[in-house]
Amino acid sequence: MKMKTVSAVDFEFSAVGFGCWAAGGGDIWNATDDDNSIAAIQRAVALGVNFFDVAPVYGLGHAEEILGKALGSNRQQVIIGSKCGLVWDDAGNVTNDLSPESLAREIDDSLRRLNTDYIDIYQIHWPDPNTPIDVTMQALSEVKKSGKILHIGVSNFSIALTDEARQQDAVVSHQGLYNLLERNPTQYHNIPLDYRTEDEVFPYCQEHGLAFFPYSPLFQGLLTDNFKPQDQFDENDVRAANPKLNGELFKQYYAIREKLVAFAKEIGHPLSQVAINWMIHQDAVTSVICGAQTVEHVEQNVASVTWDLTEDMLAEIDQILEPYRDPVYTQ
Ligand SMILES: NC(=O)c1ccc[n+]([C@@H]2O[C@H](COP(=O)([O-])OP(=O)(O)OC[C@H]3O[C@@H](n4cnc5c(N)ncnc54)[C@H](OP(=O)(O)O)[C@@H]3O)[C@@H](O)[C@H]2O)c1
Repeated sequence: MKMKTVSAVDFEFSAVGFGCWAAGGGDIWNATDDDNSIAAIQRAVALGVNFFDVAPVYGLGHAEEILGKALGSNRQQVIIGSKCGLVWDDAGNVTNDLSPESLAREIDDSLRRLNTDYIDIYQIHWPDPNTPIDVTMQALSEVKKSGKILHIGVSNFSIALTDEARQQDAVVSHQGLYNLLERNPTQYHNIPLDYRTEDEVFPYCQEHGLAFFPYSPLFQGLLTDNFKPQDQFDENDVRAANPKLNGELFKQYYAIREKLVAFAKEIGHPLSQVAINWMIHQDAVTSVICGAQTVEHVEQNVASVTWDLTEDMLAEIDQILEPYRDPVYTQ
């Protein structure tokens, strides 16, 4: 496994990480089965993956439970990046809440579900317009003093908000949408994004030594060889609600994908590995949190580090993408 380090935190991160959203189960990602999720996580650990991204809201607590169960006695060997700030009611309606009272509840619930007594990096999932960031950060500082979390990270934060957060306490990481076809996205599903990943977040993370974790590195499966047309999505599959994977916009993304498929074929590697390898080449990217539902996916994703895109190949990818850097493709 290739490892990456940053100055803000004393961890060595595996260049290929693991995203646990699909482990939330139910039918959000084509009906993932718990046994498959557990086997996939355990295979990832065995292959040297040490960064696991999860959140309470993934499967309303279920993904954290599955991660805790799968890690078992290997918990100390890995870095858990869980999150806070998205809570749900009895009917499963999710809202933003970064108030100190809610955070105090959330951390204890996460520790119980993960079956651990600390979280390595506790990331604020999305900003909460109703709670000033200094109030949230003061509360998280208290949680940190208690030893329940080791470090604070942010996700989906603008640079201005990240700066404000850092006035109160250290922030060691940023997480945002990033992949070959979404380099400076302005929207995630229907949610506007207040940050431009490559143009703003990368230089900021590099200047201040923060880790950067790119989410949806495989464009929710579009940047893999076995992606099928959009009518595959079950009604409850999260991808059914992604405007970029449906309708007119999807046709445009799919057309670029086809060019990348041809390139991957020409160099003799799966498209997923080209996408992951390309991300590992970006200096600002710390651990690529690939969502994976099966042992086979994990093995393929980890194998991305067994070969390297050459300078010529990287230039060819730039050439393929250059005509498509129109705003429609970075929405
Ligand atoms: N901070 C945030 O707001 C935020 C938002 C989104 C995600 N995340 C994090 O980022 C992680 C990854 O993002 P993501 O889950 O959106 O999607 P992703 O990693 O871009 O795509 C994951 C999907 O790609 C397919 N896949 C994975 N490896 C494959 C392989 N080797 N061959 C073929 N297909 C493969 C699988 O779907 P199929 O087999 O069903 O096609 C898998 O579920 C999440 O799990 C979560 O931890 C964070």
